[in-house]
Formats: sequence, C-alpha cells, structure tokens
Amino acid sequence: MSGEALLKVSGLEAAYGRARVLFGVDLEIPAGTLMCVMGRNGVGKTTLLNAIMGVLGPAAGSVVFDGADVTRLPTHERVRRGMGYVPQGHETFPQLTVFENLQVTLEASRHRDRGAIEEALEVFPRLKELLGRRAGFLSGGQQQQLAIARALVTRPRMLILDEPTEGIQPSIVAEIEAAVERLNKEGGLAVLLVEQYLELALRLADRFVIIEGGAVRHAGTAEDLRDENVKRLLAV
Ligand SMILES: Nc1ncnc2c1ncn2[C@@H]1O[C@H](COP(=O)(O)OP(=O)(O)OP(=O)(O)O)[C@@H](O)[C@H]1O
Ligand SMILES: [Mg+2]
Repeated sequence: MSGEALLKVSGLEAAYGRARVLFGVDLEIPAGTLMCVMGRNGVGKTTLLNAIMGVLGPAAGSVVFDGADVTRLPTHERVRRGMGYVPQGHETFPQLTVFENLQVTLEASRHRDRGAIEEALEVFPRLKELLGRRAGFLSGGQQQQLAIARALVTRPRMLILDEPTEGIQPSIVAEIEAAVERLNKEGGLAVLLVEQYLELALRLADRFVIIEGGAVRHAGTAEDLRDENVKRLLAV
C-alpha cells in the first residue's frame, strides 16, 4: 500500500488547549477500502476525524488525500477535493426542508450537477417522501440518512462517518448498513467509519484500527478483530 493510499495520515497529534488527545496517529486507507476506527468512549475518535477534516487544527503531523497534502487546507476545500464528512450526531440544517438541505450542499459542491441529488435519494429512498419536511422534524434515523445523503451530494471519493448508527432505531440502522455496504462494495467508494457496534464493523470493514492512548494500538483485518485480546481492548 506504500504511497498509493487515497488517505494517508502520519504522526497526527491534536489537543484541546493543554489537553493532548492524539499522540501520533498513523493511518493508510487505499482506494475502495472500508476502514473502521474503533476504541472506547472518549479515546479521541471524533477528534481524529475532526483533525483529518481540518475542523480542528492538528498540533503536528500530516494528512495527505489523493496525493496532495491537505493538512493546512480549510475544511470546505477538503470537501471539494472529495472528502465527504458526516460528523457525529447527524448534523443537518433543522430549519430547512430535506430538499433544501440537499440543494444547499449541491450549490457549495464543485460539480453542481443536479443529478447528484437524485443519486443520493436513490441511496435513501425513504427521504423521497420527506422532501418538503423540515429536517428538524425528522426522526434521528431519518436525519442521519439525510446527513449521509448530503455528503453524497458532493460526490465524495471517500465517505467519513462518525458513529452513524448511534442511538438510531434498528430498522434504520439496517438501512444505513446496507447503503454503506452498497456504496463501498458496488460503488467502490472508500469509507472511513467510526463505529462502536462490533458486529456491524465485522460485517462491513476490510480493515480496522483500534485507538488507545492517543495512537493506533491495533491494526488488522476483520478476522483479527474476532480475537479475544482485541475484543478486550474494546470492552468498556
Ligand atoms: N471541544 C472539546 N474541548 C475539550 N475537550 C474535548 C473537546 N472535545 C472532546 N474533548 C475531550 O477529548 C477526548 C476525546 O474526545 P472525542 O470526542 O474525540 O472521543 P471519542 O472517542 O469520539 O468519544 P465517543 O466514543 O464518546 O464519541 C475526551 O477526553 C473529551 O472529553
Ligand atoms: Mg466520538
């Protein structure tokens, strides 16, 4: 995988004021790969994604996407280059309708092709009946689908998802899992997924990393993840 990774994170460090959270994270995600990031609550998974996306400026280290160093670029420029981010907690514009949420994202995208909204709605057909509804009135699961659909409207080369199934009703979890699986396995979309639901991670992930102590403690395949020692690292 040397040099050819779609996303390469090297020695990434991040802190909130004096509180250091990441102490040198290394990650490589080849094109088309679904990588799952795991780790106990509060180890810094969200901090890692925010640093990768430039929401939080890293204290040290680098982020290279598609061969270009994006470490100093603003978040919106990373999005334009194909990094589609769905932050933890299904963020949408609550006052805007479902359609307006998608439209606003399209207008900010590089391609501005209206077909991208149709494509995103094909991934989550449930949203088609809700186009005129304000996002703030959707259920948590519907909002999560909308948040992912918004990222898809930008036509990303990599989808970065932070706990997309957290606190969501099981029927919608299954739809989200199926959608992510299709996008990755059929569409070849690379995915960086933070997920604490182990069984789902085992079904979807090609590779995984476990964060502990501010760095990657384990890296391997789904088979390795079944190992008892690795499971112990994830136990609360
Ligand atoms: N804005 C912030 N200011 C100060 N400290 C923060 C901030 N956000 C997170 N932290 C701290 O940084 C550490 C890592 O938090 P982070 O949210 O990245 O963890 P996480 O692995 O995503 O947790 P979870 O599994 O609960 O989502 C925690 O100790 C948290 O309290
Ligand atoms: Mg988090």
